[in-house]
Amino acid sequence: MNKKPLILGIETSCDETAASLISENDQGIPIILSNVISSQTEVHKNFGGVVPELAARSHLEKIDWIVQKALDESGKKIEEIDAVAATAGPGLVVCLSVGLSFGKTFANLIKKPFIAVNHLEGHALSPRLNSGLDYPYLFLLISGGHSQFLNVQGLGDYKRLGTTIDDALGEAFDKTAKLLGIEFPGGPKIEVFADKGNPERYELPKPIINRGGCNLSFAGLKTAVLKISKKIKTQQEKFDLAASFQKTIIEILYKKTKTAFLEFEKQNNLKKKIFVVAGGVAANKEIRSMLINLCKEKSYESIFPPIELCGDNAAMIGMVGLEKFKLKQFNHLDYPAKPRWPLDENANFLKGAGVKL
Ligand code: KG4
Ligand code: ZN
Repeated sequence: MNKKPLILGIETSCDETAASLISENDQGIPIILSNVISSQTEVHKNFGGVVPELAARSHLEKIDWIVQKALDESGKKIEEIDAVAATAGPGLVVCLSVGLSFGKTFANLIKKPFIAVNHLEGHALSPRLNSGLDYPYLFLLISGGHSQFLNVQGLGDYKRLGTTIDDALGEAFDKTAKLLGIEFPGGPKIEVFADKGNPERYELPKPIINRGGCNLSFAGLKTAVLKISKKIKTQQEKFDLAASFQKTIIEILYKKTKTAFLEFEKQNNLKKKIFVVAGGVAANKEIRSMLINLCKEKSYESIFPPIELCGDNAAMIGMVGLEKFKLKQFNHLDYPAKPRWPLDENANFLKGAGVKL
């Protein structure tokens, strides 16, 4: 029997330091041998967001033992590794540089190929980990750094159907939480507040709800929350604002997901309709249940990968590495860190003032 490829994946694009060993089974399904993630919640909790310099320092302090732990937990030896894959972008350049340099040095040291991985490609292919899910599928990524709908048609074949033109959805949750006095990252706590509040109390805007296809926008919503939060006096009003915010997000996502379904169906000749939702915000129970119901209504199979695979992790990076290794898609050791690296190079750049939808 041929030796199965063994890939070391490394991820440091934002505030998770992660390493993973990936291989495949006899059916060619990518399998996880170890998946070690160290989050920096404690480092950033008092700052209302990720502080790049602190994040990079923390990656530097942890990267050696995280990789060592991933190796130990996999039961494999360094000599058995066939290639090293590290995230090269998109992300915070000072953070990317830590994992990227570590990965290149490691690959050079063991004299094995180096593979630069797009973090978004990792997310997009992550539902195939341990499952071998077939293409094509519609993928919604809702995390602290990204919000986008992707038509995933195969390795290296992605069409972006829609993206946020300003804040990511997790960022909108975290900023609202901050205005309500909740420490970073406050997204999960908004859900707890919302359970105790009246969602009808505050009328909030739904930016670009009736235009821009399935592109998203949350900045106007945040401004409205800011104005109301200044007038708020009681705890009950905070609960009501959280509930109104969450309800508004759900209405936006409902409409935009329906639009994305139509786009996806137009672009593919589908035997089976599959919708995968990943990213930290996918943990929100109300959002999840709305999306599951919408899938039932529109005859889609809904897939929510386990949270440790849909938040930032290195297993998804190792898996892209594995697929590229099999195609001998290697990179040189001078491969740069890319703070901006769209998956779909043909998609328009939709950020900042003056964006036309
Ligand atoms: O994908 P993820 O774990 O990591 C990064 O983006 O790096 O996503 C984290 C984001 C944060 O903004 C967090 O507040 C949000 O996901 N989040 C939630 C919930 N759980 C995590 N937002 C709303 N409701 C939740 N239950
Ligand atoms: Zn991510």
